[in-house]
Amino acid sequence: MSELISEESPLTREDLFGPPGPGEVARIREVGRISRLRFADGHIGWVVTGHRQVREVLSSPKFTTGPDKHHPLDLRFHRVSSDGKTEHKVAPGTFLRQDPPEHTRLRKLLQGQFTVRRMNQLSVWIGEIVDDRLAHMRSLGGRANLVEEFALPVPSLVICALLGVDYDDRHRFQDDTVKMLSLETSPEETLEALARIQLFMRELVARKKAAPGGDDILSDLLATGGPTDEEATNMAMLLLLAGHETTANMLGLGTFTLLRHPAQLEILKNEPEVIDNAVEELMRYLSIIRFGPLRTATEDVEIDGHLIKAGDTMLMHVPAANRDPDRFPGDPEALDLRRPASGHVGFGHGIHQCLGQQLARIEMRIGFTRLFQEFPDLRLDIEPEDVPMRENMGVYGVHSLPVAWSV
Ligand code: HEM
Repeated sequence: MSELISEESPLTREDLFGPPGPGEVARIREVGRISRLRFADGHIGWVVTGHRQVREVLSSPKFTTGPDKHHPLDLRFHRVSSDGKTEHKVAPGTFLRQDPPEHTRLRKLLQGQFTVRRMNQLSVWIGEIVDDRLAHMRSLGGRANLVEEFALPVPSLVICALLGVDYDDRHRFQDDTVKMLSLETSPEETLEALARIQLFMRELVARKKAAPGGDDILSDLLATGGPTDEEATNMAMLLLLAGHETTANMLGLGTFTLLRHPAQLEILKNEPEVIDNAVEELMRYLSIIRFGPLRTATEDVEIDGHLIKAGDTMLMHVPAANRDPDRFPGDPEALDLRRPASGHVGFGHGIHQCLGQQLARIEMRIGFTRLFQEFPDLRLDIEPEDVPMRENMGVYGVHSLPVAWSV
């Protein structure tokens, strides 16, 4: 694994990316809302921990989101050549890592598919998927691994159906997604995993082009005639990867968190109208994106009194920003489902703000509500300390979550 922080840094890697317990995040912030950070390769960049400062960087056109060799997960969206090597440039269509005007052109082609209205129209269908998985879980008896039976399948089924990917083909992308998001995967393995998913998506694009008119986002995208085949392949891959691992970890870690905060869980059970806010608060409190967003200055720029030089890398620390007392007064280290939590940066900010956030919100609202309606006495089936945490992954969460209920 490439270490992000070297020994000379005032902050350890655990300070930055360990589970954000009370105190840890605050300590990082005390160093400064923006502070210097030495990356493992010697580059001296910055870590941004203040909520206002994170938003300022993410909304400034003076930063690029392009390839950054200082980031341990940088290889994820590289273009892989036919001989399996990376060309050290972002794969065309991966608009998450592209700047305007390419970013604007490509994002626009998908925007209409992810509006609040469009997503609300899908809520009955998403409810059916959730209920199906819960019925399956119940059929297993009185215990199950919630990640395997519920948290991962729900968003995977949803994004597969939306994209027109056969869910039975999930073995062709699920394990490789995990490899690509792991901090322990070697660069060679990352590229192999990337190449396999790209091949799978390339085949899918070819099939959709051969049989146009399908009722899915990819078919609609191809029908616009906007993207090249390579762009469409990588856009679809981005949606597939971004669309299931993230929401799955919110469902898994969110359930674990609620089970560990019984008073908060009671609020959710007794006041169903709190769910919209509860989802925002869980997003704020859990801040599952731990390695980024990351930006590189394209010119000298002053942020909050600091002179950021062209070429400096800036790492946004989402957990710290989301617990910044300047933005979330009271006790930002506490989970409080009634707190006004909107405005958190868990979905990012600025032009790259999460395209799928309305979809993710609906999946979480329906997912948490129905889970605790169906299993009101859901409980952990192992000691909380024994739950395997995803400390080695770019997206935080639980690897598995053994739960039990009365039959
Ligand atoms: C709880 C679940 C999710 C979380 C925490 C999350 C988080 C994020 C964050 C922080 C960004 C901004 C990255 C940056 O600025 O560098 C982002 C971008 C993005 N997300 Fe999500 N996401 C979630 C769910 C989804 C879903 C369900 C989809 C797709 C269906 C999705 C698709 C995208 C895409 C396409 C982008 C790139 C947007 C752009 O560059 O314009 N995400 N997400």
